[in-house]
Amino acid sequence: MAGQVGLAQALSYARDLKSLYETSRARERELEQIQERLRAAYQQSLQYAIDLRKTYRRLQQASFQSLLGLANALEAKDVYTRGHSERVAALARRIALAAGVPPPAADVIAQAGLLHDLGKIGIPEGVLRKPGPLSHEEWVVMRRHPIVGAQIVAPLEFFAEGAIIVRHHHERHDGSGYPDGLRGELIPLGARIVAVADVYAALTSDRAYRPRLARAEAARRLDAEAGQTLDPRLAALCVDLTGDDATPERPV
Ligand SMILES: [Fe+2]
Repeated sequence: MAGQVGLAQALSYARDLKSLYETSRARERELEQIQERLRAAYQQSLQYAIDLRKTYRRLQQASFQSLLGLANALEAKDVYTRGHSERVAALARRIALAAGVPPPAADVIAQAGLLHDLGKIGIPEGVLRKPGPLSHEEWVVMRRHPIVGAQIVAPLEFFAEGAIIVRHHHERHDGSGYPDGLRGELIPLGARIVAVADVYAALTSDRAYRPRLARAEAARRLDAEAGQTLDPRLAALCVDLTGDDATPERPV
């Protein structure tokens, strides 16, 4: 009798265990399915993030191109400045590479060269194209253009280094520049490079008040400014690089 009760209990335990086992297996399968759905959702959100990043980059590039168009339009209004930024950009890249700057950073410096005077868009025409010397008040307005330019390009996250170069392209080696009066190596390298290229490109281009200078004379002027307003090493590199140029610099 006692044996039969024991057997019935054992069978009941066995059934309970089987039921528990089946329940837990069902849970496991459910969990596996949930995990699989989660994995798929994660993969999809990852893909969305990649797509979003690509779109964001394209938007930033499109914004950069628009600003470039704006800078070109600004220059094109004046026969004497037409093509100036392109010359500055090309020369700045060459100086940067010769100074040992890695190519990607040299590209950013060249891009900053393209946009360095964009802030002039905020300067009234009467000041920008005044034939005679500027008054004190007009200079105050003119000297704002590096800050305005840096503010315009600030939303371009990929161009943060470029914005710094735009802001400081009128700083001078001896600290007499603007907007912050930085001196020597406190001036960002890219800004020092663009400054040298800017001066050289301006000297070798026709201006309303003088014809373009011959290379030798431009090199002499650069030498005179080396260590004063311009970084001496970069000015020397610019003179070396442009000494071999076969084609004359002139406004396009
Ligand atoms: Fe400028």
